[in-house]
Amino acid sequence: MAGRGLPGPGRPRSGLLRRLVEPCAGWAREQGADRLLLEVHEDNAVALAAYLRLGFVETGERRPYPLGPDRDELVMALDLRPS
Ligand SMILES: CC(C)(COP(=O)(O)OP(=O)(O)OC[C@H]1O[C@@H](n2cnc3c(N)ncnc32)[C@H](O)[C@@H]1OP(=O)(O)O)[C@@H](O)C(=O)NCCC(=O)NCCS
Repeated sequence: MAGRGLPGPGRPRSGLLRRLVEPCAGWAREQGADRLLLEVHEDNAVALAAYLRLGFVETGERRPYPLGPDRDELVMALDLRPS
């Protein structure tokens, strides 16, 4: 989703990720989806923190990173069902 980077590491929080995720989540919910999935490098603490803040949780699934199989990606999910 934000794999190409929005503001870049070390830069101030831009609000772009929230402005990207929230409409995507709204659209997906309208289509009947019950969750939104993403993958993030296990060592990307900044992205992990931001995704957690937006409500994503770790699913427990891990997948090898296709471009560097020595590192895993964590699968995270945002629950879209009404609370
Ligand atoms: C990770 C990244 C996408 C975040 O983008 P961003 O536009 O700065 O994120 P936002 O400002 O929309 O932040 C979303 C929420 O996460 C929080 N957040 C952002 N960075 C955080 C951090 N390092 N620690 C804790 N919370 C953080 C924000 O405060 C915000 O919550 P709030 O609106 O309640 O205040 C951006 O830092 C980036 O592009 N990094 C480099 C590339 C990368 O790692 N991409 C992800 C690949 S999976």
